[in-house]
Amino acid sequence: MVKTGVILAAAGRGERVGSEIPKQFLKLAGAPVFIHTLSVFESHPGISEIVIAVPPGWEEEVASSLRRRGFRKVARVVSGGNTRQASVKRALENLSPGVELVLVHDAARPLVSHTLVSQLLRTLEREGAALCAVPVRDTVKLVRSGRVERTIPREGLWLAQTPQGARRAWLEEAYRKAGEREFTDEAALLEAAGFPVCVVPGDPLNFKITYPEDLKLAEVLLTLDIRRNL
Ligand code: CTP
Ligand code: MG
Repeated sequence: MVKTGVILAAAGRGERVGSEIPKQFLKLAGAPVFIHTLSVFESHPGISEIVIAVPPGWEEEVASSLRRRGFRKVARVVSGGNTRQASVKRALENLSPGVELVLVHDAARPLVSHTLVSQLLRTLEREGAALCAVPVRDTVKLVRSGRVERTIPREGLWLAQTPQGARRAWLEEAYRKAGEREFTDEAALLEAAGFPVCVVPGDPLNFKITYPEDLKLAEVLLTLDIRRNL
């Protein structure tokens, strides 16, 4: 089986949620958000190792919490950078030599499921690079200063989620080519480097905790253990 590593991006400040500690460390349904997220990869048979990027200063606390909870696949806890891209890059440099496929996932998406990870892995093995995304459901408006400038046909528009991933060699090359240029996700980086990126239908429940109201929704869904049925 191809050795697959996961990079968990957990080094953000969570400014839009605006809580005292970053959103990925808030406790929801009995455990911090990033623990819920990690558990999905820890318990997935296709994943062999995990590297997690955390905000500078959180390394010790996170490492000891993982030891206490008995996580076995987390190979390293690294300190992240100022941007998501910098955090992922740092983690990528710290994957073990044998890892050939890499998934990147936002710690702030605790509702990722085994099914989604398995579907992405299958596509990745075949195609080399892929991301989860969901088709836009609503009509899209381009708005400036509170007024509609125009309506954008939603045909062909998809919203990117994580996990996303690629062959390690592709992702490393994409990071090298990006240099100082900033991209918002790995798929954009891979596209810019000229690699074809496939889309796997994502899951609307796999939303990212971005604003305070998302915490409530995530808490309800985690409490219901909704993923067990996914
Ligand atoms: N992330 C990261 N390193 C950064 C910035 C973000 O690892 N320098 C991670 C976040 O921890 C999160 C994921 O990338 O799990 C998605 O980013 P986002 O939702 O934007 O989180 P934050 O940047 O923390 O939030 P905000 O933009 O509101 O400050
Ligand atoms: Mg951010």
